[in-house]
Amino acid sequence: MKSALAALLVAVLLVPSAYAKDDYHGLPPAGAAAQGASKIAVCAACHGANGIGMSPLYPNLAGQKYNYILKQLENFRSGARKSSIMSGMAMTIPPSPDHANLKDIAAYFSQLKPMSTYPAAPGAPAADPAELALGKVIYNRGVGADNIPACAACHGLGGEGNGPMAIPALAGQHAAYVVKQLQQFASGARANSPGRVMHTIARAMSATQESAVAAYLQQLNPDSTLGLGPKDFTHYAQTLAAPGAASDGNGSGQSKPAAPSGAASATAH
Ligand code: HEC
Ligand code: HEC
Repeated sequence: MKSALAALLVAVLLVPSAYAKDDYHGLPPAGAAAQGASKIAVCAACHGANGIGMSPLYPNLAGQKYNYILKQLENFRSGARKSSIMSGMAMTIPPSPDHANLKDIAAYFSQLKPMSTYPAAPGAPAADPAELALGKVIYNRGVGADNIPACAACHGLGGEGNGPMAIPALAGQHAAYVVKQLQQFASGARANSPGRVMHTIARAMSATQESAVAAYLQQLNPDSTLGLGPKDFTHYAQTLAAPGAASDGNGSGQSKPAAPSGAASATAH
């Protein structure tokens, strides 16, 4: 299993050369996020102006890595990644010198309050503790016997992703979307993973393992991994409902009251 992981890591490390010319590994230009705010009207219908997907199959983009978003948009436009919905949507972004429109949009979503800081959707079924425990083991340690490497090795212990490597954040992502992507990687319907890393990994996973890791990721908050205590949705929901709570003013376009001053800052990023 160690050698399989090493091979995967080497594959990922070698890949930047394949698309470095499209500068997926640079930084967002200054001011791009502000420019992007006026270019996401169409996108917000499904992904939310605050970057929280409106349906479990519309991925959250809030706090997603800038380079990863840029790569996906380019991939949808070139056909390297196909989606009956997104292939067309990505083409609605008008061409611009030096991909300025794509960069502005990627910067906008990447700089929103991270998806992992949002409470679970109202009415969402509580995750089964045994399933979460299995998901946590797969995510942090992998399953040697099945040749599944630890997801954390690339996606980060807190599921925070890796910007320069264009590896996506997964913490707080919709479970249904994560399962669908793993299935698409396994079947080859999604074929844009550098060095085919995600194809190899997803093909090694069972349906039970896929849903367990997805359930774990949906409730994962990087802060809890860093020792700040588990994410407390109940407390957060109460702060949202608190009378007189003010807008958080982060430009999310959705009224999202801030925690009262003096409240634990674990939820206020
Ligand atoms: C009608 C709904 C809809 C609209 C409008 C829409 N998207 Fe999407 N978007 C989706 C769906 C569904 C997916 C997942 C596709 C898949 O399953 O592979 C997606 C995926 C993405 C992804 C990949 C996310 C990831 O984690 O890999 C990005 C980036 C994205 N959309 C950006 C945009 C942008 C920018 C716009 C506006 C130009 C936009 N979308 C408009 C539905 C939509
Ligand atoms: C060797 C590095 C590596 C390892 C290990 C790895 N991944 Fe990935 N993963 C990637 C890269 C790189 C991408 C981005 C692919 C692309 O560019 O489209 C990705 C993409 C994904 C996506 C798509 C996210 C989205 O927003 O569409 C999911 C889901 C995912 N990985 C889940 C997992 C899970 C679950 C594991 C562990 C079982 C895992 N990954 C292990 C490198 C890795």
